[in-house]
Amino acid sequence: MNATFDTLTQIITQRRTIKPAHMNGQLIPNDTVTQILALANWAPTHGRTEPWRFVVFAHDKVAQYCLLHAELYKTHTPAEQFLEATYHNFLHQGDKASHVVLAYMQRGNLPKIPPVEEVAATSCAIQNVLLGAQALGIAAYWGSGGMILKQPFKDWLQLHPDDQVLGALFLGYTEEVTVGKRNTDIDAKIKWW
Ligand SMILES: Cc1cc2nc3c(=O)[nH]c(=O)nc-3n(C[C@H](O)[C@H](O)[C@H](O)COP(=O)(O)O)c2cc1C
Repeated sequence: MNATFDTLTQIITQRRTIKPAHMNGQLIPNDTVTQILALANWAPTHGRTEPWRFVVFAHDKVAQYCLLHAELYKTHTPAEQFLEATYHNFLHQGDKASHVVLAYMQRGNLPKIPPVEEVAATSCAIQNVLLGAQALGIAAYWGSGGMILKQPFKDWLQLHPDDQVLGALFLGYTEEVTVGKRNTDIDAKIKWW
């Protein structure tokens, strides 16, 4: 019995993806988001490159982000593939969210650290953010759909060609309770020697 492990287990296992449509519009104070993002900085980092970077859209800026995402979709989708419904979904994706945090990997200047490790470190940082949110009763969604992983999005963020966008984190509050689901038990994913 170890109370710290029990608390950590609870936070990890009860963390759930809550899509922004299931958030309730209640706003998170910016200070709270700053506190959560501070946890990102404690992710493990090979060579101390600390490659995680975040761009925050708070409160009324969320709508600006969603408009920008929708417009990138419109501008960079061939007319015959463009769907008005998809545009509308992107435009209104954040209507009930409090913050959108774009997360990307900034490639450092240590070529001996392979890009996969920089992405891994940034993913750990993102998970820290999600767990911090969970611990504070904040709903979170890590999304990579739409334009997020595409070149125009990267261009808009003015990223270096070696950098990598990892996703948009939508934060808010919810009344929704979601039960976790995994397709296979962890035992099926571990080999002991
Ligand atoms: C890198 C990454 C990208 C993701 N992108 C999306 C996405 O674009 N759309 C989506 O519905 N969920 C996305 N998710 C969330 C997963 O759907 C979610 O984690 C999965 O369903 C498991 O649910 P849980 O997070 O509640 O355990 C993403 C998760 C990760 C790690």
